[in-house]
Amino acid sequence: MMRALPIFAFMAFAACNSDTQVADAPHPGKAVFQQQCALCHTVDGSRSTGPSLKGVVGRAAASSAGFAYTKALRESGLTWDVATLDAFLANPMGKVPGSMMVTGLRDPAQRAAVIGYLETLKAP
Ligand code: HEC
Repeated sequence: MMRALPIFAFMAFAACNSDTQVADAPHPGKAVFQQQCALCHTVDGSRSTGPSLKGVVGRAAASSAGFAYTKALRESGLTWDVATLDAFLANPMGKVPGSMMVTGLRDPAQRAAVIGYLETLKAP
């Protein structure tokens, strides 16, 4: 019995995993987020150095409750979608002069990956 158990456990894991692998695999943009964004942003609704990015895709700029945004971002008139996020991340200070977000992502492939990841985060 003791010998059979690990094999059984492996088979159960493998059977389960083959069905759910695609859904359970972490989004490729998650690693980019963790390396480049998580220093200042959470994805659970709590604020950090920057606002939470949970549900950011589709919401108006500067609309995460409880975060003290700059006047520049509040008055930007932007709504975050793939295009506006791409432009902002490519050059935050150029897209929204006066924003506190100073670091962007130069690599277009990394921007696409991280925006794809942000799209998977549901609003609160
Ligand atoms: C050094 C800290 C820092 C890092 C790193 C950082 N940000 Fe930010 N980010 C901020 C701050 C601060 C703001 C608020 C800017 C303002 O009020 O002008 C912000 C704002 C934003 C906004 C606008 C959110 C809203 O509610 O309108 C988005 C989108 C965003 N950041 C995405 C990212 C992504 C994606 C990354 C990683 C590629 C990233 N940020 C990395 C500090 C950071």
